Amino acid sequence: MASASAALTAAVSLPSSKSSPLPTRTSITSLERIGFSKTCLYYRNVSIRGRVVSIRAQVTTEAPAKVEKISKKNEEDVVVNKFKPKNPYTGRCLLNTKITGDDAPGETWHMVFSTEGEVPYREGQSIGVIPDGVDKNGKPHKLRLYSIASSALGDFGDSKTVSLCVKRLVYTNEQGEIVKGVCSNFLCDLKPGAEVKITGPVGKEMLMPKDPNATIIMLATGTGIAPFRSFLWKMFFEKHEDYKFNGLAWLFLGVPTSSSLLYKEEFEKMKEKAPNNFRLDFAVSREQTNEKGEKMYIQTRMAQYAEELWELLKKDNTYIYMCGLKGMEKGIDDIMVSLAAKDGIDWAEYKKQLKKGEQWNVEVY
Ligand SMILES: Cc1cc2nc3c(=O)[nH]c(=O)nc-3n(C[C@H](O)[C@H](O)[C@H](O)COP(=O)(O)OP(=O)(O)OC[C@H]3O[C@@H](n4cnc5c(N)ncnc54)[C@H](O)[C@@H]3O)c2cc1C
Ligand SMILES: NC(=O)c1ccc[n+]([C@@H]2O[C@H](COP(=O)([O-])OP(=O)(O)OC[C@H]3O[C@@H](n4cnc5c(N)ncnc54)[C@H](OP(=O)(O)O)[C@@H]3O)[C@@H](O)[C@H]2O)c1
Repeated sequence: MASASAALTAAVSLPSSKSSPLPTRTSITSLERIGFSKTCLYYRNVSIRGRVVSIRAQVTTEAPAKVEKISKKNEEDVVVNKFKPKNPYTGRCLLNTKITGDDAPGETWHMVFSTEGEVPYREGQSIGVIPDGVDKNGKPHKLRLYSIASSALGDFGDSKTVSLCVKRLVYTNEQGEIVKGVCSNFLCDLKPGAEVKITGPVGKEMLMPKDPNATIIMLATGTGIAPFRSFLWKMFFEKHEDYKFNGLAWLFLGVPTSSSLLYKEEFEKMKEKAPNNFRLDFAVSREQTNEKGEKMYIQTRMAQYAEELWELLKKDNTYIYMCGLKGMEKGIDDIMVSLAAKDGIDWAEYKKQLKKGEQWNVEVY
């Protein structure tokens, strides 16, 4: 944890961002919002039992200036695939530190690589890593994707590094042999100074909304926290001329044990800095249960705030992001189905609209 907190100190005193001005915009929304001085009415067209109707959520907060929605798919200055597998960028490991406790089930490492500014990524993107060595056929290993865990400025604030949060994969196969995942073990074993072959950056699904007044609900299991650490550093630890977050960021993080809570101290620091703009909820599956005695998964924790989450979801500047284990998607869908049903709304249809408006963003596997 020591190195991660050193990086944190570096970031808190960051200079202003040098990020480029907003690109040309493309409006993506068919939703309407009608604003009154201090009260906003948000409308969304939804299909209820075959009929299209408008539903409304009233939010009695200071009405923020309306920010035009920009489709992240059309943002012009988002770089993708600058480095391809045949011609990867070679960075160096600057730091690699285990961020789970010794008694945690499995190890997760936080690592920082040098890029010299040559791999210009955005919060929410991923990079590929090509591990050293060859596969069983003597061919170079294929790349594996990893969500970037640092903001675009990087952990040292100079836009010259990229960080990852990697779980060491170790499992027992059907023959009873212990198998180690190729790339995750290569990464977790990297020593400072070692070279690492990087491809990308890739991905637009998880890019952050531009709106600094947005409500951003982040749902992570395990290393699925990576893109959200990236978002949250930009929101709470950095100064940007073109982005001053003043919305609500709400993070739900699901892990097996308290010794596997990732970046907990950083998130608590953010909460101290911005208590009105950041909410933090953990679901520790092997230590906590709900009032019915059920295992505390991320969706179990979310269910405790069901009504509040549902109200937030009716606003057209609420964005949900989900990252981590594939299984979490169904669990979260299940609670949404019952919430939507209370308002007579078909969740599948509603989710389609949210996806279209880029308000429902999922990267699970
Ligand atoms: C967009 C994206 C982002 C990602 N981000 C991250 C991230 O931020 N952090 C992170 O740690 N990972 C992330 N991953 C996962 C990562 O890409 C690798 O898949 C992971 O590290 C395992 O790779 P490996 O080379 O270590 O394992 P491999 O050598 O590729 O072995 C994996 C294979 O082992 C087998 N296997 C795995 N578990 C078991 C089991 N329990 N029983 C039997 N067989 C099994 C499966 O066949 C599996 O395909 C991400 C994946 C994607 C697609
Ligand atoms: N973008 C991506 O696609 C992306 C990014 C990052 C990571 N990943 C992948 O996501 C996975 C994260 O695994 P991890 O090992 O880091 O996590 P982990 O530390 O094992 O934590 C996962 C947590 O999710 C819980 N969980 C298990 N099944 C669930 C379900 N159906 N619904 C909700 N919660 C559930 C686990 O509970 P129990 O174990 O107690 O059952 C545990 O508390 C890895 O496979 C990683 O490679 C993908």
